[in-house]
Amino acid sequence: MKKYLAHICGHFQPLGYEELYAVLEAENISYSILEVNSQVVIFETADNPLYAVSRCAFVHSLIELLGTGEIEDEKFTFLHSYDISELDSGSTFCSRVTKIGEKEVKIRLMDLERELGNHIFNKFSSKKFTVNLKSPDYIFRTILIKNRFFLGLEIWAINRKKFSIREPGKRDFFRPGAMRTDYARALVNLSRIKKDEIFFDPFCGGGGFLLEASYLGAYAIGSDLDYTAVKGSTKNMKQFKQYTAELLHGDSRNIPIRSFHAIATDPPYSLQSSTHGEKVSQLTYDFLIESREHLMKNRYLVYCTPSTIEPEHIVERTEYKIVTLIDTFIHKSLTRRILVLK
Ligand SMILES: C[S@@+](CC[C@H](N)C(=O)[O-])C[C@H]1O[C@@H](n2cnc3c(N)ncnc32)[C@H](O)[C@@H]1O
Repeated sequence: MKKYLAHICGHFQPLGYEELYAVLEAENISYSILEVNSQVVIFETADNPLYAVSRCAFVHSLIELLGTGEIEDEKFTFLHSYDISELDSGSTFCSRVTKIGEKEVKIRLMDLERELGNHIFNKFSSKKFTVNLKSPDYIFRTILIKNRFFLGLEIWAINRKKFSIREPGKRDFFRPGAMRTDYARALVNLSRIKKDEIFFDPFCGGGGFLLEASYLGAYAIGSDLDYTAVKGSTKNMKQFKQYTAELLHGDSRNIPIRSFHAIATDPPYSLQSSTHGEKVSQLTYDFLIESREHLMKNRYLVYCTPSTIEPEHIVERTEYKIVTLIDTFIHKSLTRRILVLK
C-alpha cells in the first residue's frame, strides 16, 4: 500500500474533489481516503493511480507521500524508512515547497526548500543525487498548510497547455456559450467514461465534451437540434484529428442510439444558447425520461442547468438518483448546477 496526496485546484474546489473521486472509480482504483484538508486529498491504495489522476483537469499534482508532520519540530526521520530502491542512482533532484492558505508559517519558503533539500541529499546519499533546479529528474514537493507539512515525491503535475490548445476560441467552429476545455474535461470525467466505451452528448453544440471524451479514448457520439452545430463540431473533431467521433442531427428527446455507457452534457439555459422554444425545466424532464431508456444500468449522466430551476425536484420525478450536486458561480445572473445522476 502506498499513500498519495492529490493537490486540488483552488478555484474549482468542489468540482476538483469530485473529479478526483470519479476518475479513481472510473479506472477501478480501490482506495481509502485518509484525510481531506484544504485543497489536498490523502489516500491509500495498492493500485497505481497515476493514469486515473492524469485524466483530471482540476487536480494540480499527484505526490507519493513520504511523510507529514509539524514543520517547526520535525527532524524528517521518516525519510530513513522510505524505500528508495525505485529511484535511479546518479539522478538529479530538487526540493520545492507549495504553501496553501494563509501565511501562518513565519519561515521563508526558499530557506525551507533548501533545508529540505539538504535532508533529502543526506538521507539518500547512497543514490548519489545532485541538485538541478531547472529540470530535475525528481521533484520532492512539500505542501504546507498552516504549520503542517506533507512531503513526497511528485509523480505527476498538470500541463495546462494540454487544455489551452483546444480552448473554444481556437477551434474552427466557435459559438458563444461553449464551455472552457478544462471545465468540459472535468464534467466528462464525472461521467466515469473509460477508454473504448461509448460516450454521448445529446446537446453537443461545438463538440467540446466530445473532444474531451475522444482524447480519453472513448467512442464519442454527439447530437444537436441545430444542423450548423452538427457540421461545426464535425469540423472541430477533424481539426483535432479525433476521427472516431460521430455526429448526428436530432432532438435529445428522441435519442437515435440504442445504448451508451455515459453522458455528460451542457444543455441550453435559454440565456446564450437557445432551447428552440422549450422551457428549460420541461426540456430537462423530457430528456431525463428519454435518456433513462438508453443509458446502461448503474452508469452516470452528468447534466447542467441554471440553479434557479432547482433541477433536483425534476430528478425526483424520474428514476434517476442524485449522486453529486455541485453549484458553480459563473456570473451574477448564472450559477450553474451540475448534477451527477445514476
Ligand atoms: C450550451 S450549448 C452546448 C455547448 C457545448 N457544450 C459546447 O461546449 O460547445 C446547447 C446546445 O443544445 C442545442 N439544443 C437545444 N435544444 C435541443 C434539443 N431539444 N435537442 C438537441 N439539441 C438541442 C442547441 O442547439 C445548442 O447547440
